[in-house]
Amino acid sequence: EFHKHPKHLALASDGAFGKFDKQQLQRGFQVYKEVCSACHSLRLVAFRDLAALGYNEAEIKAIAAGFQVPGVDPNTGEATTRAGMATDYFPKPYPNDIAARAANNNAVPPDLSLMTKARHDGAAYVYSLLTGYQKQPAELIKKFPDSKTGAGLHYNPYFANLNLAMAPPLTGTDQVTYGDGTKATVDQMAKDVSAFLTWTAEPKLDKRKQTGWPVLGFLLFATVLAYLAKQQVWAGKK
Ligand code: HEM
Repeated sequence: EFHKHPKHLALASDGAFGKFDKQQLQRGFQVYKEVCSACHSLRLVAFRDLAALGYNEAEIKAIAAGFQVPGVDPNTGEATTRAGMATDYFPKPYPNDIAARAANNNAVPPDLSLMTKARHDGAAYVYSLLTGYQKQPAELIKKFPDSKTGAGLHYNPYFANLNLAMAPPLTGTDQVTYGDGTKATVDQMAKDVSAFLTWTAEPKLDKRKQTGWPVLGFLLFATVLAYLAKQQVWAGKK
């Protein structure tokens, strides 16, 4: 009764006719880059994939160069880091899970590439989680004293465990400055990054939906043809 279903979220990519809103995906990417990427990787997304959002080669190279990715020292052969290239994937921000846990109250921030597929009603879930932090209800503590939010944890009714190790990452208006002039309220940033994570989880969504219509058209045509053929074959036979 205390765990809540995600709020409603309407995205341009919803429905059979839905298409990604690239402007929104760019804003969502900006939120990911400036806020979420401090803790979360996108191991299935390469920098060059950002071309689909409308970034050009020079922009992609610059974005990639702003990230440190795992590398090998050419002289010593030791593991080190280097600036990212267009063909690299969004890296893990921590050298290993031990470091990740040490920085996050013993929780590892999960990779976000497929998060909107991994959770039920994923995009709406991410949006709700980001905007859903609140004070823990007194009745809950009364009813289930063990569920009291512990030190370093944060109460969020959209999270299955109710208490999570991620502090609210979106805390105030203008945390990012959008290039297209959209006002960066917490609600707007949460929507935009949810749209972006819908794209990371299914970059070919537009293509899949567009493919459906010619297929239906062909099937309709084939049905008509089969019907006419049947009429012809059976003509005059009673
Ligand atoms: C978990 C999204 C920023 C640390 C998560 C989860 C999502 C998420 C969807 C998974 C919840 C689940 O398992 O159902 C985001 C987004 C961010 C963001 C969209 C940017 C707007 C951050 C930042 C940090 C962080 C900046 C670190 C300072 C964590 C940790 C967890 C987590 C530690 C694991 C929580 C737990 O299992 O208790 N985040 N996050 N996140 N995130 Fe973030």
